[in-house]
Amino acid sequence: MKILRTIGEAQKLTTSLRKKNKTIGFVPTMGYLHEGHLSLVKAARKKADVVIVSIYVNPLQFGPKEDLSKYPRDFKRDELLCRKAEVDYIFYPDDKQMYPDKFSTYVTVENITSILEGRIRPEHFKGVTTIVLKLFNIVQPHFSVFGQKDAQQVAVIKKMNADLNVNTKIIVSPTVREADGLAMSSRNVYLTKEQRADAPYLQKSLQYAKRKILLEGYNKDIEFLEGQMSKLIKSRKTATKIDYISFNDYYTLEEIKSLKNSNNSAILISLAVRFGKVRLIDNIVIKR
Ligand code: PAJ
Repeated sequence: MKILRTIGEAQKLTTSLRKKNKTIGFVPTMGYLHEGHLSLVKAARKKADVVIVSIYVNPLQFGPKEDLSKYPRDFKRDELLCRKAEVDYIFYPDDKQMYPDKFSTYVTVENITSILEGRIRPEHFKGVTTIVLKLFNIVQPHFSVFGQKDAQQVAVIKKMNADLNVNTKIIVSPTVREADGLAMSSRNVYLTKEQRADAPYLQKSLQYAKRKILLEGYNKDIEFLEGQMSKLIKSRKTATKIDYISFNDYYTLEEIKSLKNSNNSAILISLAVRFGKVRLIDNIVIKR
């Protein structure tokens, strides 16, 4: 496994791999890797000749009041995990490489970035699409693997790729969870013992809504379901604020107001909840 620290050496490598007809599979991350990230690597490993993981905490996608400086970092550990997972290259640039002085070009996907996560974190997706397009141009992957954990991120990147004719396929990999249902996240390390014990209620409430819909049919009232989910979460003392609970079309992210006359082929139920300063997201998909 090799570590690429400059854009120049990475681009030179991927250009030559493409010339040799090697399939490049790419997994972009912000590091502090866990089983969730490694499941994406595994998915890439299955299909690619060469697997490239990027590790870069992208300042552009953090809001002014967010946890950029506190975001967990441990490159040595990440390196070891990548080696074990048979990654071929880690792209590990610094801020100067990615955002040199006078950097002034940004990628903005409109509409679907102003709802859900985007409503609470207004500049977040502009930061994500800008860095992801830069990474695609550097790594030149044939396909890239993203986690369903960040379902809106997937929809936004797919839209960017479609609108800007970006030539990399997006593969979506299922959310990896702890034994009690909590979605793995680099931010879970910030939870206190009490918060950690309450956090699985996010998934519990999503499972509840899915079960109700599947067992009792699509005539269930969304307001009722949201109310019940919210009650379940609020029953946990350390869940201090629900940012949103939302029902959307999985592919277009269009809000679903009523299940009765909906004909969405896949419904995304997603939520964001604060446990003090720690903000967790999760989602579930119901396919018809
Ligand atoms: P990061 O939060 O490090 O996540 C990297 C990738 O891992 C994303 O595709 C995310 O959806 C996936 N992931 C995270 N937790 C997961 C879990 N429990 N199960 C499965 N997949 C999981 O997402 C980002 O970084 C950044 O926005 C990035 C795309 C790298 C751009 O900076």
